[in-house]
Amino acid sequence: MSELSLISLCKKFERSTPNEKVALDHISLEVNQGDFITILGSNGAGKSTLFNAILGKFPLDSGKIILDGENITKQKDYKRALNIGCLYQSPLKGTAPNMTIEENLALAYTRKAKRSFFAVNKKDSERFREMLSTLGLGLEDRMKTNMGLLSGGQRQAAALLMATIAEPKLLLLDEHTAALDPATADKVLALTKQIVEEQHLTCLMITHNMQSALDLGNRTIMMDRGRIILDVSGKERENLTVADLLEKFKVASGKGFDNDRMMLV
Ligand SMILES: Nc1ncnc2c1ncn2[C@@H]1O[C@H](COP(=O)(O)OP(=O)(O)OP(=O)(O)O)[C@@H](O)[C@H]1O
Ligand SMILES: [Mg+2]
Repeated sequence: MSELSLISLCKKFERSTPNEKVALDHISLEVNQGDFITILGSNGAGKSTLFNAILGKFPLDSGKIILDGENITKQKDYKRALNIGCLYQSPLKGTAPNMTIEENLALAYTRKAKRSFFAVNKKDSERFREMLSTLGLGLEDRMKTNMGLLSGGQRQAAALLMATIAEPKLLLLDEHTAALDPATADKVLALTKQIVEEQHLTCLMITHNMQSALDLGNRTIMMDRGRIILDVSGKERENLTVADLLEKFKVASGKGFDNDRMMLV
């Protein structure tokens, strides 16, 4: 059985107005437990909208979402958040900048423990310190530092830990390294790979970097105009280069690549 089933999801924004926009056009996807799927697509293709649909940020026009056997299509977003971890481009989104790293981790951990926010006890503190030390960023010595004072890369690394500490059924990463310099982005991506593999997480990751899309995970999909136009995995994906991917995108979408912006258009 799939961990996540998306069944013919449809969403139009500003329906029946001159600005009507088809954001999701019959999106269907079966995601197995432990799948790490990278998602590519041009600006406005519907990638973030797909995540927002899974997170319950708006009602769908039609379609069905099943997570771990449960139909969550009509479930409130705050309930889904108990099972779905997410991380965005902005390192501040989803973290409390005026709280310490330790407090942020405790808050995220509380979700799993299903109890109200608690004072961090010694045992938890030790556990957080240990987890932070695996990041290799020296954060374990800065547990009492406010999140807002960390560098972008350190914050994304800590936020990644927050998003996964409660062992979510699903992890959604929306361009979570896009705002970082290339060296830091590489570090956070390596960390992402490590955490996803160690915890056998089911993960969807949106990126504009085609090489990372092929390097990470076990399956890559491409979106265009609210549809999935390409879905590669296994042997076919193993031998795929960025040039092959571009060619496939061109054929499937009738569009091309903007060399200046290094992006699909
Ligand atoms: N809340 C909203 N209200 C109206 N239109 C929206 C809303 N959210 C998204 N859209 C529109 O839906 C389309 C898909 O947007 P979406 O943000 O999902 O694209 P994306 O693939 O994530 O693009 P990008 O790579 O730029 O992040 C766009 O045309 C966008 O303008
Ligand atoms: Mg987006």
